[in-house]
Amino acid sequence: MTAVGIDAIEIWTGNLKLDLPGTFAPEKGEDPEKYTKGLGLNASSFPDSYEDIVTMGANAAHRLMERKGLEPDDIGRIDVATESAFDNSKPVSTYVAGCLEQVFDGDFHHANKGERKFACIAGTQSLDDAYNWIRAGRNRGRSALVIATDTALYARGDAGEATQGAGAVAMLISEDPNLVELSAEQGYGSADETDFLKPNQQFPSVDGKRSVQVYLARMREALEDYESVAGDVHSEDFAYAPFHTPFPGMVRKAALLAYRHVIRDTSLEDDLADEIGRQPRPEAFDTDDDYRDALREYMDLLKETDAYQEWYAETIDPTLSISREVGNWYTGSVHVARASALKHALENGRDMTGEALLVGSYGSGAQAEIHSEVVREGWEDEIEALNVDAQLEDRYDMSWDDYEEVHDVHNHDMDVDVEEFTAPESEFVFDGWGRMGERK
Ligand code: CAA
Repeated sequence: MTAVGIDAIEIWTGNLKLDLPGTFAPEKGEDPEKYTKGLGLNASSFPDSYEDIVTMGANAAHRLMERKGLEPDDIGRIDVATESAFDNSKPVSTYVAGCLEQVFDGDFHHANKGERKFACIAGTQSLDDAYNWIRAGRNRGRSALVIATDTALYARGDAGEATQGAGAVAMLISEDPNLVELSAEQGYGSADETDFLKPNQQFPSVDGKRSVQVYLARMREALEDYESVAGDVHSEDFAYAPFHTPFPGMVRKAALLAYRHVIRDTSLEDDLADEIGRQPRPEAFDTDDDYRDALREYMDLLKETDAYQEWYAETIDPTLSISREVGNWYTGSVHVARASALKHALENGRDMTGEALLVGSYGSGAQAEIHSEVVREGWEDEIEALNVDAQLEDRYDMSWDDYEEVHDVHNHDMDVDVEEFTAPESEFVFDGWGRMGERK
């Protein structure tokens, strides 16, 4: 069977930067290490006043199509995944197609367009839709363009404000792909949850602490469900495990939980693991608190083992390098994690062809999905073509006053007009409603 997967990827960051330890922490009266060590973040990417989900998505897609020498006729489907949409009827993909038609010969009239919503997992769901469309033989030889784009902004003063971010990831899904082959096996963990909501509102209502617990619970279910179709996962099976990364500290928690699950061969205190490594509370513990304390103690011990630390340093830490500098990109986040991992491999001369990735996606509300991918022969050229380092370097570093101004601009409840901080360079810009996506 012909392989189907991600042929190419492009990343587009918001053009502004908010320095968390240097600018945010002093303003909040917090220790900078809460952000760098606790949450694991150095900076957030932020959209300039002329950027939004359409411009960032179109800019990423444009770069991808240009680099791959594609014309609209090569694309049979455009799906945009976002949780920052501004239109309850017309999908963001139509706006993006409108932008792209300004610069390419031909149009996308033949292309099926849509918008996917399930919080941050929608990017992976769009990949699945594209995969299924190709596997069903409905693509007529064409590829699918999947764009995950978000302005992940929180109300000022909300605990989530430290984890903001803005950016887009464009992916080309094709037969015989260059980057990774997607597998047909998936595991899900899904439940009706209200930890993170945006019911017709610009900024989310978030129960931050609970959202962390829901992420972990659904991820564990997804891992178990994945094993029920793909067989037991072992810690050495995967070169990297890119997870949805709202902030690296979240992935640290998820990684430890996943590791506890997959180390069936551990020599570390097997008895204790057997005794307390299960839910619900084993009879040996009188109360939930006793069980929780013992579990915490066990996890703390596990975290300190050489085996865990080595696995974390090799398999998880490399997935977090871009996230540390950009914050949460919601739908794009897990796809940024994959790119970080492969970039790390390239920079360290690691041959990844044929190696497997364990990809963990998550969306609040809530659903987790686990699948595996196999890296393809053309991966090096695809990753080498990324210019994400230059983009991050070129961002304008905001002062606190700049930040407050531009945050107000992106609050649709306020009528604010602010000069742009950066000059757009050959990119689509938001120029007022109805004049979106003009290229400057
Ligand atoms: N030095 C080192 N570490 C420090 C520190 C210091 N001086 N001060 C605090 N820390 C550590 C804390 O111990 C904590 O780490 P642990 O969780 O490992 O204990 C970490 O820094 C964060 O500190 P707090 O918990 O005190 O931070 P907070 O209460 O201000 O906010 C948050 C944390 C609730 C996650 C908040 O950022 C938030 O609401 N974020 C938005 C929601 C979110 O991202 N949830 C993630 C799961 S949901 C999801 O994944 C979907 C999505 O994309 C939104």
